[in-house]
Amino acid sequence: MPLVTTTEMFKKAYDGGYAIGAFNVNNMEIVQGITEACQEEHAPVILQVSKGARAYANHNYLVKLVEAAILCCPDIPIALHLDHGPDFETCKACVDGGFTSVMIDASSKPFKENIEITKKVVEYAHDHGVVVEAELGTLAGVEDDVKVSAADSSYTRPEDVEEFVNATGCDSLAIAIGTSHGAYKFKPSQCTRDENGILLPPPLRFDILDEVVKRLPGFPIVLHGSSSVPQEYVKMINDHGGNMPDAVGVPEDQLRKAATSAVCKINIDSDLRLAMTGTIRQFFDEHPDKFDPREYLKPARANIKELVRHKLVDVLGCAGKA
Ligand code: G3H
Ligand code: 13P
Ligand code: ZN
Repeated sequence: MPLVTTTEMFKKAYDGGYAIGAFNVNNMEIVQGITEACQEEHAPVILQVSKGARAYANHNYLVKLVEAAILCCPDIPIALHLDHGPDFETCKACVDGGFTSVMIDASSKPFKENIEITKKVVEYAHDHGVVVEAELGTLAGVEDDVKVSAADSSYTRPEDVEEFVNATGCDSLAIAIGTSHGAYKFKPSQCTRDENGILLPPPLRFDILDEVVKRLPGFPIVLHGSSSVPQEYVKMINDHGGNMPDAVGVPEDQLRKAATSAVCKINIDSDLRLAMTGTIRQFFDEHPDKFDPREYLKPARANIKELVRHKLVDVLGCAGKA
């Protein structure tokens, strides 16, 4: 089936009490690992491309990789989405260049300016049959060259969301309820520790999510920064020459709970990076004589696939929904 927008996916996810996985893609192995898991689990999926991914791999390569995935995975709906579009021009380039969904992230701008920029993107995108995700509130963490400290992050203000959505006409809204980008989502000082010394992060602000949903009934909500930072992969990295102390993510039971609510799209990138890096580090440690990229990218791709399968089945609840 051709690329789809997220409209139908989100309607079914909202009504069905599950969320669609939005996974970042940067190269062929990542595209394959994600889409093979989705095809086998009959799960709809959003493949998303950041500004950094376009700079790394080139827009055309990424679009063609996704087109190849469509040919290889004919049974599942796939949307191609711009992640954290920084400005109108980037969004326009992706609308013109074959994407079915774009995010305009003007969340760091003042409220009125965020509305203005988002509205402009919505008008252009809708004229071309493309849907738009916008953001209110700021997440902590690192994305592309933007680094937001925990002190500068801010939760979404529920009292702003109706005006924002009505004024912009956006199709979905990313909100900040305590998730954060990257592999170091919470400082140890924000966490408690269990009896084994494992960091337990502060709970997500479901009270804010509930208030937003009350004000925007039926409207699809998006969560960014939703990697759970699997400790098995952090350990694999650290056991094989890495140094990632106190890497910690959002507990999967909280994401599972969010997925049953109005949250229709959950963004996961760092977990796949950890799986890939851990697998490759271990491979080189165990096979110092090997140098064929196919030999180390193959197990990395396989582990991405199994991780995505786990997310689809156990966290997002979207397996079997294609
Ligand atoms: O939220 C950002 C995504 O994880 C993409 O990361 O900007 O390094 O490509 P990136
Ligand atoms: P993570 O860093 O938690 O994987 O978040 C990814 C994301 O929000 C992409 O937009
Ligand atoms: Zn994000």
